[in-house]
Amino acid sequence: DLKDVADFPIGNIVSASKLASTSTENETFKGILNAEYNSITAENDMKMANMFTGQDTYDFSDGDAIVAYAKENGFRVHGHALIWHQSIPNWLNSFAGTDEEFEAQIEGYVKATVAHFAEAKDTGGNPIVTSWDVVNEYFDGSSVRSTLFSQRMGNDYHKKVFQWAREADPDVKLFYNDYNIAGEVGKRNAIIGMVNDFQTNGIPIDGIGMQMHLNHDWPTSDLPTAIQDISDTGLLVHVSELDVKVNYGDDITELTEERAAAQEVQFQRVGYYYTTIVPAAQQYGLTLWGFRDRDSWLYDGGSEWPLLYDNDFDTKIAHRGLVAGLNGE
Ligand code: G3I
Repeated sequence: DLKDVADFPIGNIVSASKLASTSTENETFKGILNAEYNSITAENDMKMANMFTGQDTYDFSDGDAIVAYAKENGFRVHGHALIWHQSIPNWLNSFAGTDEEFEAQIEGYVKATVAHFAEAKDTGGNPIVTSWDVVNEYFDGSSVRSTLFSQRMGNDYHKKVFQWAREADPDVKLFYNDYNIAGEVGKRNAIIGMVNDFQTNGIPIDGIGMQMHLNHDWPTSDLPTAIQDISDTGLLVHVSELDVKVNYGDDITELTEERAAAQEVQFQRVGYYYTTIVPAAQQYGLTLWGFRDRDSWLYDGGSEWPLLYDNDFDTKIAHRGLVAGLNGE
């Protein structure tokens, strides 16, 4: 089992509805979840579009259900994601108030959400929600992405958000999360520059999430370089959303042996480089972005096979690759 092989937490994504369901399929899913993993991330339930239901109005019920499952079954919860341009509730997108009123809404949301989930404790009194992706995908390449937040609050909005999160909970680990950190050196350097700026100016940040949405043949030699560069910040490092596409060029109609083998290698590489490059004290964990291929955001009606389990919940050879990597092989 993955969690027994690694010296750091191994995570996967959940939804409140799947955890609540007792269908045969969801009981199988929960069996694998409990056997192989000790960290969970809400795929969608703890995003702004789901929780920030109106002005000064929040609905934490799905997140609370996930936290209750975590408490009962011994998981930690990684909070995902406070501020992201892809999960903005419609009412906020069309918010007619002034920029100051907009900012007050965001401050209220961030503080209320972090404070709410800080209250959840395990039987030993330790927090269940141990971390948050505070800002997700702030950069577009090496530039600041233009979003509702940058337009309403200015390009330094991310600094305020990290400070509000820290004010709401002095202990929770605060992460910056982004994709293509391995593949895009410009984005990687922009993130490292941001961390340096935060550290110089006393803006709180504890970790970097490298999403790791990879392809079977990409990235190659820049993968260990990127993991090294991010580790060199001294912050926690989380592989936060790992999956490996095998049909990026849309040139196969079934998972071929050759592609399955390339995918196995790619999962092995991520496990191996994370295990061997990131210092133990900075290893926050490695989180997969889904269980069965068909559950993946990439599934595309059956033309993508990006995960560790096939559609019958049987492990693919990719699973063997990840285990080898986590064993330092
Ligand atoms: O639940 C509704 C359903 O009621 C409705 O009928 C249907 C119609 O579109 O939409 C359903 O919601 C969808 C939801 O997934 C649940 O399936 C949303 O439209 C869809 O946008 C949402 O996609 C999620 C996406 O983030 C956007 O929030 C994916 O599941 C999720 O895997 C993906 O995850 C992101 C990470 O959070 C951040 N990094 C990138 C990663 C992949 O995009």
